[in-house]
Amino acid sequence: MEARRGLWITLEGGDGSGKTTQAEILTRWLTDAGRTVVRTREPGGSAVGQLIREIVLHHRGDIAPRAEALLYAADRAHHVATVVRPALERGEIVLQDRYLDSSVAYQGAGRVLDGHEIRSLSLWAAEGALPDLTVLLDLDPGEARTRLDSADKPFDRLEAEKAEFHGRVRDAYLDLAAAEPQRFLVVDASASVDDIAAEIRRRVAELIG
Ligand code: TYD
Repeated sequence: MEARRGLWITLEGGDGSGKTTQAEILTRWLTDAGRTVVRTREPGGSAVGQLIREIVLHHRGDIAPRAEALLYAADRAHHVATVVRPALERGEIVLQDRYLDSSVAYQGAGRVLDGHEIRSLSLWAAEGALPDLTVLLDLDPGEARTRLDSADKPFDRLEAEKAEFHGRVRDAYLDLAAAEPQRFLVVDASASVDDIAAEIRRRVAELIG
């Protein structure tokens, strides 16, 4: 990937870990500081991605694991090429819900697919692009479940997966963070919203100088 001038931050964590809340707080802080922030997400951060999101999250019935992995990778390829990379080249801050670590954690945790293969597939799709910072909001799946149950929102296909699956997702995320400590900031997502926001701000402040 060519030289980038902007800053690319991704948020990761299980369903119900508070990514959206933290993304909103961080966006406000960066915008108030005069930075241009592109808020985006996977799957669904582009028009093509919206169509793919409908399939992977709302299709009734099974999707073969490799097909599902390829759909996320296709969404990623198009999103990085048409949204993320142009914004970084313009010198903007890209703040993104979920990226390839989601694929490794979720598709890999299904046990059918190998995490290394999933990662290679995603890196191929995105021409090797990796974020400057990945914030992992780490939360016990039991606590996340309680939050989701009280959110009064219908579950998508993956949220409805059983507890054991979400335990494996969490473990996979922690392994990824341990393997790349310089890219990851692991935050205890059971802390208060304000404390979490402050911890994320500290790291982002270091990066924007
Ligand atoms: P998300 O957009 O965070 O859901 P919501 O809008 O309900 O907060 O994520 C949607 C789901 O997609 C989530 O359960 C994780 C899953 N996912 C994967 O399985 N693999 C991937 O590569 C990505 C990006 C998401």
